[in-house]
Formats: sequence, structure tokens, C-alpha cells
Amino acid sequence: MNEARFAFGKNWKRLLPQIDGDRIATAEASLRGLLERDRLEGIRFLDVGSGSGLFSLAARRLGATVTSFDYDRDSVECTSTLRRVHFPDDPTWRVLQGSVLDASFMESLEVHDVVYAWGVLHHTGAMWEAIDQATQRVSSGGRLVLALYNDQGAWSRRWAWVKWAFNSHPVAQAGVLAAFLPYFAAQGAVVDVLARKSPFRRYREYRRERGMSLLVDWVDWLGGYPFEVAKPEEVVDFLLKRGLRLRRLRTVSGEEGCNEFVFERLAQT
Ligand SMILES: C[S@@+](CC[C@H](N)C(=O)[O-])C[C@H]1O[C@@H](n2cnc3c(N)ncnc32)[C@H](O)[C@@H]1O
Repeated sequence: MNEARFAFGKNWKRLLPQIDGDRIATAEASLRGLLERDRLEGIRFLDVGSGSGLFSLAARRLGATVTSFDYDRDSVECTSTLRRVHFPDDPTWRVLQGSVLDASFMESLEVHDVVYAWGVLHHTGAMWEAIDQATQRVSSGGRLVLALYNDQGAWSRRWAWVKWAFNSHPVAQAGVLAAFLPYFAAQGAVVDVLARKSPFRRYREYRRERGMSLLVDWVDWLGGYPFEVAKPEEVVDFLLKRGLRLRRLRTVSGEEGCNEFVFERLAQT
């Protein structure tokens, strides 16, 4: 079951042409909110599993020195394209290919003031080991931003099966897409109409949240495998033992999706 792996980068290539000034501004606002600062000058920002590269770009535009890496070559290509278009030949933004599970690769990266791993570590196949590796790259007083899928017990196990099926065969993939995409769209439209909103409003609102695309994220949700989940308290305990304390938490209130955490490594005295 562990051999199946979603081609994240191919999906990110669909988002790339849609990355405009509006989405970039939204990603910047998301980072400013999470990190509680308007500018990131003097900040070393490590983007673990950079995907499209949108958040590396946002961090760089806010003034950070950025290292982006991803395991998937197509994701690396997406991030490199954004760098080439927006910051050509910039020595303060480097893009690498590597795995957060590769201890020697991770050790080759210095510690960073912000380690940003949004929606990544639950897709590695070894989530706790990946969290441990990411944690080791956080400087004293630095921040760790994580988004990890919420543990919904039996529902999470059912979703794991759907995602595994998606990646097992092209026919199964087409079946999953054909079954779920119309369902998600219809469900969203009904909820919106009942709430007396326009059925298309959620597309605009979703974009406003992190600058992402609802359709690209639906495919990411259906295909994203390996897939692991965690309860918020497990994550907090795991990181407390490693010298990081929670600063911010946004849960999905027991629903599916990602709980978002900001941790701070206690400064050594
Ligand atoms: C859902 S995407 C999230 C992308 C980005 N962080 C964001 O917030 O939009 C997950 C990314 O994690 C990457 N990934 C999966 N396993 C990885 C690993 N072992 N090391 C580094 N990146 C990995 C995938 O290739 C993919 O680009």
C-alpha cells in the first residue's frame, strides 16, 4: 500500500498559470498573520515541500532569505519557475530538490528562523519522523509552521483508502474524480444556496484564504497519498518534548482538513 504516491507537482503545474498579483498578495497576508510580523527582513525562511512555490515567493517578497525544497521534481520545477519569473538570479532565494526524510540532506541545511511545512509532512509516508527532522532545523527562538491533516478516526481510514485507490490505477483515478468532484461541487452549491449565498461565492472566498485554487486543492485532497493524520494534542505533546511551545492553533473543529500550528523554539538562556 505504501508504494502509491500522488504526483503533487503535476497538480501544482495547473496552479502555476493562475498565480497572479492577487494570489501572491493573499499568500503574503497569510504569512504576515501566521508570523505576526509585516516584513521578514533578516529572517531565514525554510519552505519544506514548497509545492507551487507560492509561499516561498511570498516570503521572499516580504524580505526573507529563502530556501525552498521539495521531493517531487515537478514541484521543484514550479518553484524554480516562480523564482525565475519574479526574482531572476537572486542569491537570497535558492531552490533545491530533497526529502525532509533524508537526514543527511536536512543536516546540510543550516537552522532557520522560520521553518514552514504547510500540508507536507503527512504526505511523506513517515509523518512523525518528518516532523522531527523539520523541528531540528528551527533556530533558537525560531518558529515552526505546520499544517497537518486532522485525525477523524474511521473517516480518516476511509479517506486513506480512497486516496490509495486514486493512485493505484488510472481507471480508479478517473472513477474517484468522476464520483467526488461533482459531489463536492453540488454539496458546496447546496450549502451556499441554503446559506443564501451565491453558489460561486465559495470559489472566490477560498482563493481569499491562502491564494490557492479550490479545484487544484480538491484534486490534491483526493489524490494526496501517502496520507497520515494527527490529533492536535499529539502534535503539541510531540513538539513540547523537543523544546517547542505552541503559539497559535487553528483547528478544523473535528472536520476533515488541516489543523494549523505555529510553534516557537524556546530561546536557550
Ligand atoms: C499538499 S503539497 C503542499 C505544498 C505547499 N507547502 C503549500 O502550502 O502549498 C505537499 C508537497 O509536499 C511535497 N512532499 C511530499 N513528500 C515530501 C518529502 N519527503 N520531502 C519534501 N517534500 C515532500 C510534495 O511533493 C508536495 O509538493
